[in-house]
Amino acid sequence: MSSPLKFTLNGKIVALAECSPNLTLLEYLRGRGCTGTKEGCAEGDCGACSVALLERKANGEPAYRVVNSCLLPVALLADREVLTVEGMGCARCPHPVQQAMVDHLGSQCGYCTPGFIASLFEGYYRRDLSAGAGLDEQLAGNLCRCTGYRPIREAAAAALTNRPSV
Ligand code: FES
Ligand code: FES
Repeated sequence: MSSPLKFTLNGKIVALAECSPNLTLLEYLRGRGCTGTKEGCAEGDCGACSVALLERKANGEPAYRVVNSCLLPVALLADREVLTVEGMGCARCPHPVQQAMVDHLGSQCGYCTPGFIASLFEGYYRRDLSAGAGLDEQLAGNLCRCTGYRPIREAAAAALTNRPSV
């Protein structure tokens, strides 16, 4: 009997006895109730499905990498660590990027918001990213159809500017 596929989702181990090679992480997440992660285009263009993977730099330091979960097969997640918007903060204890989106009115319908939060979450921990032009690149993979990008960018800039120094 083969061993189950194991990975970490929002801090908890998941073990799957069976896993279709066609099952995407987005389908899996929404099927188990992690509906904060949204499906927009389902082909890697809109960023609504963005989640973060915890990776390691060459020197062993942890680093988050945001990915499109609609393009990522669950079968490739063995021993990986995934964070969705539900695992980045909560209503009582929001992550600074979530709080900045609230403070700067960066969300209207909210459909794109979890994806923006995932991209900003990664950016928050990137020490090579400032509130300057690189911030536009950081957000370039996320589309918003109703709020407009100015408040979202203002939220992003505020969150990055107010990071504690390390
Ligand atoms: Fe649009 Fe994944 S749903 S990039
Ligand atoms: Fe509606 Fe961005 S808040 S699509």
